[in-house]
Amino acid sequence: MHRRPIVIANWKMYTSAAEALTLSTRVRTLATQVDDVDIVLLPPVIWLPLIVEHLHHRPRSLSFGVQNFYPADEGAFTGEISGAMIKPMARYALVGHSERRTLFHEDDAFVHTKLVAAIELGLSPILCVGELTPVALTKRGRGRPTVIQRQSDIYRQLETALKGVNSRQIEHLVVAYEPLWAVGTGNNVPAAHVEEVLVSLRAQLVAQFGEVAAARVRMVYGGSVTALTAQEYLAQPHIDGFLVGGASRDLRQFPQIVTSLAERSHHRIQHPEHRS
Ligand code: PGA
Repeated sequence: MHRRPIVIANWKMYTSAAEALTLSTRVRTLATQVDDVDIVLLPPVIWLPLIVEHLHHRPRSLSFGVQNFYPADEGAFTGEISGAMIKPMARYALVGHSERRTLFHEDDAFVHTKLVAAIELGLSPILCVGELTPVALTKRGRGRPTVIQRQSDIYRQLETALKGVNSRQIEHLVVAYEPLWAVGTGNNVPAAHVEEVLVSLRAQLVAQFGEVAAARVRMVYGGSVTALTAQEYLAQPHIDGFLVGGASRDLRQFPQIVTSLAERSHHRIQHPEHRS
């Protein structure tokens, strides 16, 4: 099945208003040149209305999302912003990012609540899962892949986040494999390891939701992705795209990442036998 490739740009708590406008204008130009890749910008939420208005005319492939929201419609939640408030401007919502899990103590149960809230609001969740230590790789080096599955956080995170969710509700889900120790650190996770994890995560989705629904879910990798490492990852068939932090604010690297993905997609359309 052909899944549309996707690149998610997580600007985190960076950019001034002026920088956000400059960056987003450049990304709009990029989106008009490359139409086979969905590009999702996750700016700091305060700039979201500005950007949405500024990019009123934009290709359909370019959309917006939020890095965070609070899973209640309204209420006495000082400092928080509800999904309903951002819904008119955003199509996607990041849930379970490792920085939220570790720095803001969001546990599996809260991630699940946010995921369900996003789905109910009609926001497409981008669910991040990933081991919080390099344990999986160490074990893999010793050639005991079953130990990875027992010890790793990844599979538990996926399972708890999606508990009680049905196959219709995952239609717009994106799953991002993001090992904490690779996010914002410059550590490279070997492409073969990413491939292996994505394949087993999809198997877990198939077991819960069936082949058809699971096949629609896009699975991306995130963690210190650069224009250079993106090339290596794209040699793996099961990576549908990337969640990019640092390099998403780099006007040289980000277009290269998007273009590499578009080139692979063209190649696959012309040679369907190479699809995953
Ligand atoms: P990074 O961030 O690319 O800077 O590691 C990834 C992310 O935002 O999850």
